[in-house]
Amino acid sequence: MNKISPSVMCIPPLELKSQLKALERAGADQFHIDVMDGHFVSNFSLNQSIVAAVKQATGLPVDVHLMIEDPDRYIPEFAAAGADILIPHLEALRQPIRTLKLIRSQGRKAGIALNPATDINALPYLLDYLDVILVMTVEPGFAGQTLIPGVFGKLARLRGLLAEHGKAPDIMVDGQIMETTAPRLVAAGANVLVLGSSGLFNHPPAEFPDVVAAFRTL
Ligand code: DX5
Ligand code: ZN
Repeated sequence: MNKISPSVMCIPPLELKSQLKALERAGADQFHIDVMDGHFVSNFSLNQSIVAAVKQATGLPVDVHLMIEDPDRYIPEFAAAGADILIPHLEALRQPIRTLKLIRSQGRKAGIALNPATDINALPYLLDYLDVILVMTVEPGFAGQTLIPGVFGKLARLRGLLAEHGKAPDIMVDGQIMETTAPRLVAAGANVLVLGSSGLFNHPPAEFPDVVAAFRTL
C-alpha cells in the first residue's frame, strides 16, 4: 500500500498544530520528523520534544529520520517520546544489527536510511531486522534540493534484492518528492513518500501555500 508522510521540518513552526490537523484530515498516513545534529549533516532540526508534541496533536504514526552521529545513544529517548518508527543512517552505524535490535527491543519499528551514494550491498545481512528502508533521493541535511537520478536504478536493484530474499519492508523515499518525481519513484518500487518543501509546503511557491490542495494533487 502506498503511504504519504509529510515532513514536519517543512511546516512553519507557528502553524504546526493547524497544519498537522489539516494534513491528517486530508489523508496523511504518518508524519516524518527530521532530526539533525550539526555533525552527521551540517544543519540542525527537530528533536524529542517535537516528536512528543506531534504525537499529542495527531493520532497518526510518526517516523523519525535520525541524521545524527551515535544514534544508539538517543534511540531510547526518541522511543519514549513516542516515535513509532526509528530510522538511523547506515553511514552512522558501526554495528547496524545491534542498533536495529535495540530499536525493536523498545517496541518500535526499525528502519535504515541510505545516502544516495551508499550501495544496497549490506542490506541482505539486515533484512531480518528491518521494517523500513529509507532510500534518500538527495544528500540529507536540507529541504529543497534536486533529486539525484541514480536513485531510480538503485530502487530497481533493491526491488530485485527483496524479491530474491522474499522480504517486503516499506520502501521510503525522501527528497524532492513532487508531482513529477512521485509517479516514477512509485513505479520504481517506493511505497512511502516523504513530502517536504518541494512537493507540499511551498507548492506552488507562495507565501501561504494551500497545503491541503497540494496534498490532494499529490
Ligand atoms: C532532507 C530531509 C527531508 C526534507 C525533504 O534532508 O530529510 O525530509 O524535509 O524536503 P524536500 O522534499 O523539499 O526535498
Ligand atoms: Zn527526512
